[in-house]
Amino acid sequence: MRDSHQAPDLRIEYYQWEGRRYCMVNGGIAYQFPWDEIEWERLDMIHCLIHDHALDKRSYISPLDASSGRAKILDVGCGTGIFCYDVGEANPNFDVIGIDLADGPKGVAIPNVQIMTPVDFNLPEWPLRPHDFDLIRNAHLNGSVTNWEQHLRKCFHYLKSGGFFEHIDIDFTPRLRLEYTPPRDELVAAGGYQRWQEKLMEEIRPVQEWWHLMQEASHRMGRPLTYPSNMEEMLENAGFDRTHHETFRIHMVPPPVDGDIREEDGNRAEVKMENLFKGAMFQFHANRANRPVDLEGLTMYLLTQYCNPPRSVDEVRKRCADVARICNSRRRPVYFNL
Ligand SMILES: C[S@@+](CC[C@H](N)C(=O)[O-])C[C@H]1O[C@@H](n2cnc3c(N)ncnc32)[C@H](O)[C@@H]1O
Repeated sequence: MRDSHQAPDLRIEYYQWEGRRYCMVNGGIAYQFPWDEIEWERLDMIHCLIHDHALDKRSYISPLDASSGRAKILDVGCGTGIFCYDVGEANPNFDVIGIDLADGPKGVAIPNVQIMTPVDFNLPEWPLRPHDFDLIRNAHLNGSVTNWEQHLRKCFHYLKSGGFFEHIDIDFTPRLRLEYTPPRDELVAAGGYQRWQEKLMEEIRPVQEWWHLMQEASHRMGRPLTYPSNMEEMLENAGFDRTHHETFRIHMVPPPVDGDIREEDGNRAEVKMENLFKGAMFQFHANRANRPVDLEGLTMYLLTQYCNPPRSVDEVRKRCADVARICNSRRRPVYFNL
């Protein structure tokens, strides 16, 4: 059920810019990424990467007892609502609520699922009952939250005593897998390992520059994309105890199996995560002038509006094409943390 929640102080409008649709709240941009079908498809691919492959087909890892009665679940910034619909459909005795600024795609109505829009989770209060949820979930909200300390305190406030909180995010810092062994022909062409490494550092510089600019611009906008390094401390300060943290690597060149550097077994979770991430982030779309529209969508508003100096649309397109080409290739052992 989609609930057009009464929020007289939130006026949601959409506007088209550079071929994408953005969501405006009270006349200003409150969310720097596009909000349209291309973005919905991208978000659902990332959802699939996280839940089908990193978490091995689990929607959540908290020990909720599906047979013990009604559990109440909240998805903060629920996007397309995919998590809510998945969990609600699989557990008819759960009540699942998603809150978000804007309406996503129209889902099939599921009686125990309610998507509430527009709700601005950066406001001091949410239109929900305090201490009411058995599980609260945040996924992929770096770049949307203005103040993580306050945000986590709000999550704690709406959680039942003894309830669970799950927080999932992608750290877009490009990292290099050090134990990578390059193919022999590349080593020979580079003139040895040290030269190959220097060349690699040079080749991935556009990705590092992109991430540096994205972080700088998102901080300037007041919605940092940087994964907070003190997340565990903030969780404790908000009242959570017994925190458990897991990190998954999303490889652009998955590590080989049995020493076979060219291993491409499509059934491996790492390869599926690679393919989904490349599809969601770095794909060149043949039907859209062969441009990496997903990456452009994530980048365009921030770099043209919040960089100092602001970057032109053409420069952003060029940067995105470079980053997408580098990350799409299976020649550079770049990975990102989930
Ligand atoms: C990167 S998306 C993640 C969506 C979803 N959690 C997922 O994992 O697919 C961020 C979501 O947060 C929502 N959002 C951003 N700022 C918000 C705000 N101030 N209040 C409510 N929702 C917001 C966006 O509309 C978007 O759906």
